[in-house]
Amino acid sequence: MKHFLTLRDFSKEEILEIIDTALAIKADLRAGIYKEELKKKTLAMIFEKSSTRTRVSFETGMFQLGGHALFLSNRDIHLGRGEPVKDTARVISSMCDMVMIRTFEHSMIEEFAAYSKVPVINGLTDSFHPVQLLADYMTLVEYGKEKNLVAAYVGDGNNMTHSWLMLAAKLGFELRVASPKGYEVNQEILTSALEIAKESGAKIVMLNDPKEAIKGATVVTTDTWASMGQEDEKEERIKAFKGYMVDEAMMSLAQDGAVFLHCLPAYRGQEVSEGVLESHAEIVFAEAENRLHVQKGLMVWLDKQRG
Ligand code: CP
Ligand code: NVA
Repeated sequence: MKHFLTLRDFSKEEILEIIDTALAIKADLRAGIYKEELKKKTLAMIFEKSSTRTRVSFETGMFQLGGHALFLSNRDIHLGRGEPVKDTARVISSMCDMVMIRTFEHSMIEEFAAYSKVPVINGLTDSFHPVQLLADYMTLVEYGKEKNLVAAYVGDGNNMTHSWLMLAAKLGFELRVASPKGYEVNQEILTSALEIAKESGAKIVMLNDPKEAIKGATVVTTDTWASMGQEDEKEERIKAFKGYMVDEAMMSLAQDGAVFLHCLPAYRGQEVSEGVLESHAEIVFAEAENRLHVQKGLMVWLDKQRG
């Protein structure tokens, strides 16, 4: 049995297999075919943070696969009142077939997985957002942008950046990350990505200059400057990230035909300009929709691993 906590635990072949499964499931859906591969199965979804895309995509996806999803906010279950993670894991995994968790500390999801009898999926922690990266890569494949990929991530060294590091390291493409001083990625995660990159041939470059990162890139991406849990730091972050907005001038440095991705929600006028987001809206909202398809692929794939 495999959990999906970070892309670090998955090989290139496995990542591509999940994407292929998702592409096939998406084609079926477009043709009105529902194979109900998770009929009568249940997915418990524990949310300790807000969500639009993650909740709607997992819940809808499970329904389309013939199963059922339970939305469990920490305000409603005893986890939020101090019931231990390990007890919650043992109880929920004795009744449900899969668990998705969105939480703060990555160690919480690791502890849950250690006590869970069923696969656990990371729906975002402070450290990683791997399901989003599956959707991002699937979108690049659909748009024919996965070849000769040179990705530029401009902004906060956060859960999204860490997952981009892992994806690049596993798949072997070039990734430049530009963050302001003091807001760089976690060193331990970077070291681990660089270690994996040695095998895959990925080129990972860390910078403080967003223009240098974007120059000649084929994919440009960013994320909010203040992630969930950092609301109190918002004002000081807006100051620290001055000059990091992906705007038209910045995008013009990228390769001709470069695409812009954003995991959403986007803060226009901060990490991205209104113009850049709207002129790349087609791919950005295809990326959001692909959360549905790729997570269906992931759940079917994880279920098959269990045999
Ligand atoms: N991108 C993403 O995970 O969105 P939500 O926070 O709305 O789930
Ligand atoms: N970095 C953001 C991603 C939201 C999908 C956050 O953690 O809030």
